Amino acid sequence: MQQNQLIDPFGRLVDYVRISVTDRCDFRCVYCMAEQMTFLPKKELLTLEEIADVCDSFIELGTKKIRLTGGEPLVRRNIMHLINHLGAQVKNQNLEEVTITTNGSQLPKYAVPLFDAGVRRINVSIDTLQPEKFTQITRWGKLDVVLEGLVAAKKAGLKIKLNTVALKGVNDNELSSMLIWAGEQGFDMTIIEVMPMGDIGSENRLDQYMSVSEVQNKLSQSFSLHESEHKSSGPARYFNVGETGQRLGFITPLTHNFCESCNRVRMTCTGQLYLCLGQDDNANLALALRSGGKEGLKTAIIEAISRKPLGHDFAIERGLSNQAVSRHMSVTGG
Ligand code: 5AD
Ligand code: SF4
Repeated sequence: MQQNQLIDPFGRLVDYVRISVTDRCDFRCVYCMAEQMTFLPKKELLTLEEIADVCDSFIELGTKKIRLTGGEPLVRRNIMHLINHLGAQVKNQNLEEVTITTNGSQLPKYAVPLFDAGVRRINVSIDTLQPEKFTQITRWGKLDVVLEGLVAAKKAGLKIKLNTVALKGVNDNELSSMLIWAGEQGFDMTIIEVMPMGDIGSENRLDQYMSVSEVQNKLSQSFSLHESEHKSSGPARYFNVGETGQRLGFITPLTHNFCESCNRVRMTCTGQLYLCLGQDDNANLALALRSGGKEGLKTAIIEAISRKPLGHDFAIERGLSNQAVSRHMSVTGG
């Protein structure tokens, strides 16, 4: 029988694939990368055609949603080729949605092409609305460019969710004003805890870490947060913010376990399929595609899903390593 759904050993339907299209980025966020990063040689990356083949195979196996991440997906050359291809799959109703996680720096240029391709929602990472602090956090980023990108995206008709990493002593006192601003703009917002992924040089994640439940407690003193029925296909818990009418999500990978409802897998830009963000087990889809064509690829995907683990074991604690997984978020995609 032809298999047209991916179900893992724990009965979870896997219909969401996140794909990192490049490990490169034009920012160097302090919690994400070291300032001096060695990126992969470009020849090790899957070509955009190969990524499209992988996406098509997943779609044939029942994938409903594909998110492109990075690094910064919009710095990959000719990325619109792939996005147009996926947009066509949405228009043909083979796929429900193609979404993008971006740092916003390329949105002034790409907002309209993204909408025209069929993208309707994007996630934009932004941790502060103060220009100097923004450059401090991203090291190389300029706030005004990202704000210009947000304006362009909104104007193009894209629905926007902000992703904000909570950083102790850095943006914790700004989160409530950001939430108000997001509400005025019509943006949803998700606040994320720092995750122990990849070497970040001399920075220390123990210093950066703050628990999102602490953030939630603080915000609920000034906002009425009503638990929302909304279920994204992700691990966030959502609240409706009475004062702004927008949604606020919290992602707490370290303090809560969201693995029971995990519906996703992630592929790196070199074609390694990771079955869990917090585990190292993976499958080499590049090899499967190059040696076995699309049929070989589908067999490899099915085999990999049969090994999807139950969950992760992240922890940031004193005495423990501050790096649970050696690969960076920019490799696997957030
Ligand atoms: N911990 C938490 N969030 C991270 N991001 C990147 N690296 C980390 C990390 N180590 C965030 C980015 C972006 C999202 C995709 O993941 O800021 O918002
Ligand atoms: Fe780039 Fe995103 Fe990492 Fe920042 S968090 S360096 S924007 S990939």
